[in-house]
Amino acid sequence: MTTSIPSAAELRHIPLRPFGRVVEAPGGNARIGDIPVDTLARWTEESRVLVLRGFSLLGKQEFADYCRRWGEVLKWEPGEVIDLVVEENPRNYLFASGDVPFHWDGAFVEADPRYFFFQCLDATAGAGGETVFSDTTAVYRDADPELRDLWARISVTYTTEKMVHYGGEVTERLVAQHPGTGVPVLRFAEPLDPAVYKNPVSVHVDGVDGAQAEEFIASMAERLHRPDYCYAHDWRRGDIVIADNIALVHGRNAFTGPTSRHLQRVEVI
Ligand SMILES: [Fe+2]
Repeated sequence: MTTSIPSAAELRHIPLRPFGRVVEAPGGNARIGDIPVDTLARWTEESRVLVLRGFSLLGKQEFADYCRRWGEVLKWEPGEVIDLVVEENPRNYLFASGDVPFHWDGAFVEADPRYFFFQCLDATAGAGGETVFSDTTAVYRDADPELRDLWARISVTYTTEKMVHYGGEVTERLVAQHPGTGVPVLRFAEPLDPAVYKNPVSVHVDGVDGAQAEEFIASMAERLHRPDYCYAHDWRRGDIVIADNIALVHGRNAFTGPTSRHLQRVEVI
């Protein structure tokens, strides 16, 4: 068996709706390392979610080493590669089978990761558990000027107890600028109700008064969930996904079927 470098013409680009792109290599054993990082980074920036199919998965260490070509790899306590699997008695909602509300990764660490990478070692299609990405650049673009003015005044403080590999308190301005494209992005994570989630996150809004704060949280969550802004990724074994952690927020639908999925994730600053 020969592994050949796929030429640009052999790669099939399939747009996803309402954003995102699948890039498919013929033959099923292409190597991600053979495509220049600059090219993949451009595609990721353009599409925000890039799904690579027909590429060989990498060993755990190899995966972290590959991601290092893109930039500094975030080191969590468990290591650079986080195994995402559903646990029987999870300490944190990420490892449970319910839904995961919208957030961006790395809110509770020093530097916001720019990209996150997944590879899918195992999955059952149609079993729920889709990763849902919401495009905050489109949410901002479609907001009227008064709303944008209100948003520009808002900062949000998130507090969570450290249960697994993250925790603490962080304050972020709601509107930020994307370091690559320069367009406005929204930094927003939905509160996690202690009655529902293993690892509650409380949200405090500065820049508006009390009643308006509650209203802001509800209306922002509603906007982010609109189908026009959301791409839900139903995982297939062998998928490699690169996503823009700054333009997007993401969450997960609850599982409705077998939870035997195994993803590995790396964050690049
Ligand atoms: Fe996440």
